[in-house]
Amino acid sequence: MYGMVNQALEALVTERFGSETWAVVREKAGILDPAFITMKQYPDEVTYALAGALSEHLQAPLPDLLHAFGIYWVAYAKRGPWGKIMLASGGSTYELLATLDAMHARIAISFPDLKPPSFKVRTDGAAVVVDYHSHRPGLAPFVMGLIEGIGTLFGESVKVEQLASKDAGAPADSFRVLASKAA
Ligand code: HEM
Repeated sequence: MYGMVNQALEALVTERFGSETWAVVREKAGILDPAFITMKQYPDEVTYALAGALSEHLQAPLPDLLHAFGIYWVAYAKRGPWGKIMLASGGSTYELLATLDAMHARIAISFPDLKPPSFKVRTDGAAVVVDYHSHRPGLAPFVMGLIEGIGTLFGESVKVEQLASKDAGAPADSFRVLASKAA
C-alpha cells in the first residue's frame, strides 16, 4: 500500500504511545527504512507486518487495533491534501459511503498505482447495507472503524454490524450501517 497508509499508522502510534513505541514496532516488523514516502507504493506485507508487530507489542488484539486505525484514518485523511475530495464526495455518512468508489477513482489520479477497495451500497429501511470487496484479507475491522470515522465527519452517530465475512467464506464482507444525527 502507498506510504501514506504506513505514515498514518506511524502518526497514530506516535500520538498515542510515543515515538519509542513506534521505533520498537518498526524494528519488530523488520522495517529498515527510517521513514515512509507518501507517494511510494510499498508491498502490502509491510503494512500487515507493522500492524502485527504493534498487536504483539501492545498485547492487544489485531482486530481492535485495525478498528481504531480505521477511525483514525478518516481524521488523518481529512487534514491531508485529499481531505477536500473526501468532504466534497458526500454530505452525510450514507452519501459518502455511496460515492467511495468514485472518490478513490479521483484519488487515483494522484496515486496511479492505487489498488482501491470497492463498496456496493443498498438501502435497507432506515439503514444501508455495504458490501466491501478487496483482494486484501483481514481488513473488515478496519472498514468498520472507517465507517464510524465517516460518521464523526458529519456529526452522526453510526452503528455498524457485520453481516457476512469473506474470511469465513462469504463472497464479500457485508455490513449493516445505521446512521443518525448525534444528540
Ligand atoms: C482523503 C481520503 C482518502 C484517501 C486519500 C485514501 C487513499 C487510500 C490509499 C492510498 C489506500 C492504499 C491502497 C493502495 O495503496 O493500493 C487506501 C486504501 C483503502 N481505503 Fe482509502 N482513502 C481515503 C478515504 C477512504 C475512506 C473514507 C474509506 C472508507 C471506507 C476508505 C477505504 C479504504 C480501504 C478499506 C482501504 C484498504 C485497502 C483494501 O481494502 O484493499 N478510504 N485508501
